[in-house]
Amino acid sequence: MSLPRSPRLDRLPGYPLADVPRLRRELRAAGVDVIDLGAGDADLAPPPAAVAALREAVGDPAHSRYPFQLGLPAFREAVAGFMARRFGVEVDPFQEVLPLIGSKEGIAHLAQALLGPGDVAVLPDPGYQAYRGGVILADAEPHLVPLRPENEFRIPLDGFDPATESRIRMLVLNYPNNPTTAEAPLEYFESAVESCRRWGGALVHDHAYSEVTFDGYRPPSVLQVEGARDVAIEFHSLSKTFNMTGWRLGWAVGNAELVAALSRLKTFVDTGVFLAVQAAGVAALADDDGWVRGNVEIFRERRDAAVEAFREAGFEVRVPRATMYLWIPVPGGEASEAFARRALVDEGVVVLPGAALGTGGEGFFRIALTSPPERLVDAARRLGRVAASR
Ligand SMILES: Cc1ncc(COP(=O)(O)O)c(C=O)c1O
Repeated sequence: MSLPRSPRLDRLPGYPLADVPRLRRELRAAGVDVIDLGAGDADLAPPPAAVAALREAVGDPAHSRYPFQLGLPAFREAVAGFMARRFGVEVDPFQEVLPLIGSKEGIAHLAQALLGPGDVAVLPDPGYQAYRGGVILADAEPHLVPLRPENEFRIPLDGFDPATESRIRMLVLNYPNNPTTAEAPLEYFESAVESCRRWGGALVHDHAYSEVTFDGYRPPSVLQVEGARDVAIEFHSLSKTFNMTGWRLGWAVGNAELVAALSRLKTFVDTGVFLAVQAAGVAALADDDGWVRGNVEIFRERRDAAVEAFREAGFEVRVPRATMYLWIPVPGGEASEAFARRALVDEGVVVLPGAALGTGGEGFFRIALTSPPERLVDAARRLGRVAASR
């Protein structure tokens, strides 16, 4: 007997790090002190104000009811307040904002709401898996553009062949970028808005790392570009900003038609984010600057310790001004997957091989700053031994 299976499922790429939990468990069971720098999942606590707000909100039976796509009006208003305070962007909380069960589902669902067979989505390679997954599940065509150091890890917005260009209906950008840690200035977003206008495509900006920034750097929102709201939608997340990955809370903001399309699709697949979690989100966003700056300072200390230790261990490292990652060339031309496997098996360090996020990531590996400085230093030494032992 053969059970049904969608061909779309078979077109999905392998999910990175899928076998790492098993390997890590086996190594730990064998007594190895594993340092896991694989996933961008902070080891630190969420804001106490959010925890207290969740506790209180859970006690209110009204919060146990279906949230629907409207969700908690106060959360929409808190989002609008954040967008105004942080970026100087005024949005209508009810037409231009949508609460999400983490930004990942929103990003993947948006492709399914907007695209169909024959449509092309221009995506960064390497890039967050939900971009490609969403486009494939929409039966549309991902057009992967390598992010390379010589282009400052940006997607060149020209040079597409005409047959592809005429079918572009979506451009996905992500700055500050995971995994390359690259930045993009507002002028780049201006060109992207202009290109999307020309193509008749939606500009999707993933801003998951907007607040995880150092040395005074404040990345812009794509919505700061004049006229961006004609074509753009931006995704935000409480996951990285507030160490709330497991709470599953984010939002989409931007063009009302795009927001409505996403909301309509989601009406058929989910019933919204637990209202108590949205209440906690209101509390987190109320103190977006004070608490966030303190939290980011912890990541800055880790970044500095890690950059120094990796350089001492012989790696070539750029100092990122944003994200919780270092994006490091694999020494000696070894394939990134092979290096990552040796790192885990020989030295008990989990890193993300660049190729796991797309072939454009080959030649690099990523570490997440999700351990205290002394562990990052230890990991750098161990990885130095891995590099030297080939
Ligand atoms: C670039 C990027 N976008 C989006 C997300 C998804 O975040 P969440 O679904 O937790 O909001 C992540 C998480 O790792 C990410 O790295």
